[in-house]
Amino acid sequence: MANIIIVGAQWGDEGKGKIVDYLSEKADVIARYQGGNNAGHTVVINNKKFIFHLIPSGILHKGKICIIGNGVVVDPSVLIEEINSLKKKKIKVDGKLYLSKNAHLIMPYHKVIEKESEKFKGFKKIGTTGRGIGPAYVDKIARTGIRVVDLLQPTVFKEKLKANLTIINFLLKNLYNAPCLKEKVLYSEYMDYAKKLSKYIVDTDIIINVMISKNKNIIFEGAQGTLLDVDHGTYPYVTSSSATAGGACTGLGVGPTNITKVLGISKVYTTRVGGGPFPTEIKDSVGEMLREKGLEYGATTGRPRRCGWLDMVVLRHSARVNGLTGIALTKLDVLDGLKTIKICTSYKHKGKIYKEFPKEINIMEECKPIYKEYKGWNTSTVGIKEFTKLPERARIYIKEIENMLGVEVQMISTGQKRDEVILLKNIYL
Ligand code: GDP
Ligand code: IMO
Ligand code: MG
Repeated sequence: MANIIIVGAQWGDEGKGKIVDYLSEKADVIARYQGGNNAGHTVVINNKKFIFHLIPSGILHKGKICIIGNGVVVDPSVLIEEINSLKKKKIKVDGKLYLSKNAHLIMPYHKVIEKESEKFKGFKKIGTTGRGIGPAYVDKIARTGIRVVDLLQPTVFKEKLKANLTIINFLLKNLYNAPCLKEKVLYSEYMDYAKKLSKYIVDTDIIINVMISKNKNIIFEGAQGTLLDVDHGTYPYVTSSSATAGGACTGLGVGPTNITKVLGISKVYTTRVGGGPFPTEIKDSVGEMLREKGLEYGATTGRPRRCGWLDMVVLRHSARVNGLTGIALTKLDVLDGLKTIKICTSYKHKGKIYKEFPKEINIMEECKPIYKEYKGWNTSTVGIKEFTKLPERARIYIKEIENMLGVEVQMISTGQKRDEVILLKNIYL
């Protein structure tokens, strides 16, 4: 029995989807615990690419239970589209997918408010995915959110919608100078979603705890990454949810004593999409090379990802706040052919050395990385499945990461495809 949290150890897009899909073969349940369709998790099987935004990345395997937990914010139109697109590809969804009654709904006004309010932020833009994630979580915390369960009670839904629209339309008209939203239109749109989604809506907290009591294998699929966590990330350049391991417990209703492993996912370099500090960002042709070779374009928005060297300050922070029991390194193949590879060991700011990342965001923005350099390798690592078959310098690079971090490297990914993995440890033991 293993209850494993899969958590992004950087700024998202670490390859969580690929690792979750790989580990799902031996799992019984795969559950998303936070975020929404700001996530884009890629799985590649036989040259076929699947990108999951809300549905857990384990759905491609037969006979799994896939849960969208209470901590997730759900845009019903996106979920319905994702379900339909899987069904078209003959992937079974019904009987496998369960949606929490307590998850909050993303409403059309959340997207409008997000767009309008970003305009006021001037040059300090967060660069969100524009999916209404932040405003939906604002409503949740303000206790004005509309939940999935409300779709099942039209009168309750209508009352809440009416109350919210009174305030929102006032804001749209008077602050943002934007068109108002019509209650009737939204109501009928969401009642249509209710019809399509009602069969998936259940008490997921009960299901997952029953599965835990039966000693089943559970994968908790994190979205985004540690440095995008609302508490532990580079605030305010973060997302609005708890993307760290702690979010798995609250986002699904599972006690911390039931978690057996926390596997951090990290690229062997670093990427970030959107605004915010990124000390190891490479702005020259090497950064460009990583972007092109690593296909570093957002799986959700298509935006080019900012690319940089591996940052140990970031990874040490991740290991600490998530309690990592192991790490999976992805995209080793992208570094093939580089003459020199760098790892940032600490930062420097106005003569002061920072071994841990400064919480003052203005200092973090100005930090300069201190690097250790390594010789690269010039043979291909694509698709290698055994550690001993890797070029010696690649092995040295990985061992260095492990030693610097003090966390065991348990998996290495050497390509986009499902089986392009070196498994160093049975994660389920
Ligand atoms: P996620 O959000 O953490 O699931 O990651 P994304 O799917 O947004 O981005 C990761 C990208 O890297 C996807 O295009 C994956 O197919 C790809 N990928 C994952 N692992 C590897 C790997 O080892 N090598 C290469 N070349 N690509 C990989
Ligand atoms: P996955 O799960 C990378 C980033 C956005 C922006 C910030 C806030 O695929 O790793 P939001 O729309 O969440 O309010 O945007 O967070 N962001 C991600 N970056 N991967 C993601 O998800 C992300 N989800 C949000 O680019 O900087
Ligand atoms: Mg992604």
